[in-house]
Amino acid sequence: MTELNQVINADCLDVLPSFPDGSVNLIINDPPHYGVVKDKWDNQWKTKQAYLDWCEAWLKQCLRVLHPRGSIYIWGSIGEKSDSVIHLKLLMDSLGFHFKDWITWKKQRGMGNRRGWLYTREETLWYVKDKKDFIWNTDAQYSDEDRKSGNFGFANWKKGYRPKSDKYRLTNVWDDIPETTWNWQDIKVKHSTPKPVPALARIIAAHTATGETVLDCFLGSGSTAVAAQLTGRNFIGIEIDSEYCEIAQTRLLEEIKPVTKKRGKKLKKTSKTPQPGLFD
Ligand SMILES: C[S@@+](CC[C@H](N)C(=O)[O-])C[C@H]1O[C@@H](n2cnc3c(N)ncnc32)[C@H](O)[C@@H]1O
Repeated sequence: MTELNQVINADCLDVLPSFPDGSVNLIINDPPHYGVVKDKWDNQWKTKQAYLDWCEAWLKQCLRVLHPRGSIYIWGSIGEKSDSVIHLKLLMDSLGFHFKDWITWKKQRGMGNRRGWLYTREETLWYVKDKKDFIWNTDAQYSDEDRKSGNFGFANWKKGYRPKSDKYRLTNVWDDIPETTWNWQDIKVKHSTPKPVPALARIIAAHTATGETVLDCFLGSGSTAVAAQLTGRNFIGIEIDSEYCEIAQTRLLEEIKPVTKKRGKKLKKTSKTPQPGLFD
């Protein structure tokens, strides 16, 4: 089995076949969306079909390595430059994943051309392997924010309905999470498409328990790995570009170590917790 909590510098299609069946509890993949940014890695295919054939190859491996009760999240785009989320949905439906939801992350800034609406969204598809038996941690569906006036209808209120929690229930539109701040002087998040750690931590909390394993086949600057370690989960992170791997390692050292120190104790070293090198 691949060592946990290591950034693997490789093509995911070269290493995934060596992973045992059903060995990871959650998969969060943010693959190239094909043609959205100028980076070489986002423009490696001649046609959309070639891109989708490539996606099919790693999605089949993901279906195999995902635990029977596991979930998989795939990030994608919907816009003029790329409508990858639609094609990925149709592809995943055809491969035997079971569709659960399509979450829109509404960004707080935006980008886009002047002759059109400002583009402020990204999508993530949630699929499970078994539609009847999958992990869903009920507590994870509430936000940290206190409910002030109640987000349920007056008719329900009259019928005597009272909310089960004094927290807001999260919806499938996430508008409470800002973009990761870039500081190009700083090595920390030097990537053109970083995903926000709070969104990843939210997904991880909903579908895994402490000590379980999250796989990211396109780790980039390491956001999923940081979110996994901050929530006490293991990660397996694969990234083809060695410079991004170094950035991910640096983030893990800088963003995780202070947290463990602040708590006044180091995490226990077992096969299910962070490996030497990250915390020493
Ligand atoms: C959309 S970015 C991921 C960004 C990441 N979510 C983050 O927060 O930084 C996609 C990444 O996939 C990597 N990549 C492209 N092809 C790959 C492959 N065959 N195997 C592994 N990584 C690959 C790219 O180098 C790029 O960093």
